[in-house]
Amino acid sequence: MSVRRIVSKAAARVRQMLEHLFRRRRGAARNQSQSEAEAAKSLALPDDLQDGRAWDRYWKAHLGHGFGPQLFDMFTDDCLLIEVMRRDHLRSVLCVGNGISIEPRALAAAGFSVVALDISAVANAVARQAPVSDDDIARIIGRRGHAEGGSVEFVTGDIMDPTVCKGPYDVIVERRTAQNYDDAGMATFLTALADRLATPGILVSHCHDGDWRPGSEPRHATRDWFRENKWVVWEGSLVAGPTRKHVAWLFTSTG
Ligand SMILES: C[S@@+](CC[C@H](N)C(=O)[O-])C[C@H]1O[C@@H](n2cnc3c(N)ncnc32)[C@H](O)[C@@H]1O
Repeated sequence: MSVRRIVSKAAARVRQMLEHLFRRRRGAARNQSQSEAEAAKSLALPDDLQDGRAWDRYWKAHLGHGFGPQLFDMFTDDCLLIEVMRRDHLRSVLCVGNGISIEPRALAAAGFSVVALDISAVANAVARQAPVSDDDIARIIGRRGHAEGGSVEFVTGDIMDPTVCKGPYDVIVERRTAQNYDDAGMATFLTALADRLATPGILVSHCHDGDWRPGSEPRHATRDWFRENKWVVWEGSLVAGPTRKHVAWLFTSTG
């Protein structure tokens, strides 16, 4: 065999090996980006917000990265709410779309009758059973918030179903849940809460504005609905007098 033929065969062989190597790399990169896309999808909000199993998958995916305050109750401080509830003799609370929050257990520790409702059975099981320390409770109700006589019940169901948790409740708390629905869904969701609110009663609506940047006003996604429906609105820490009828207590977090 001539030298030229040997060199050309060797070059072809090297070309083949390189092509094979790059094909494998491209395949691996494709597989990696596929699994990254799947992981990102399972962490995103479900397409159908009334699909309890999809929320189960959402919570499993989030909990796969650990259980901690980054996932729940980062902004929950009920000290002022408890003060107002005691002042106005409000006793029953519905925490809707509770997720894995320990707020219902904290409010029960503060002496209130609490029902926690979520469409995800997984979230409910975690919220009911997760180990909770005195410090965790104190972050929500304060060191001196404890009182006897409280209770908590966990219900799995859809707030849009009128047979679920009919109430009425003196206080209803929704955090970062109504805001995920489109305008029509949000209106149905908030109406379902209003229908379960006693008179007098407080509806706490907490919206998170993850897009907020310094220099602009944080957006509270449900505010317009309350204004359009002529609710008395308390904002942030502003509590204007005793609770006489339906009051929307709006809280915005950012970050
Ligand atoms: C974004 S998470 C917020 C959880 C918690 N409130 C928080 O701030 O960490 C929304 C929660 O609402 C629940 N949810 C959504 N739509 C619901 C509905 N129609 N009825 C009851 N729960 C609902 C979901 O299962 C989920 O746990």
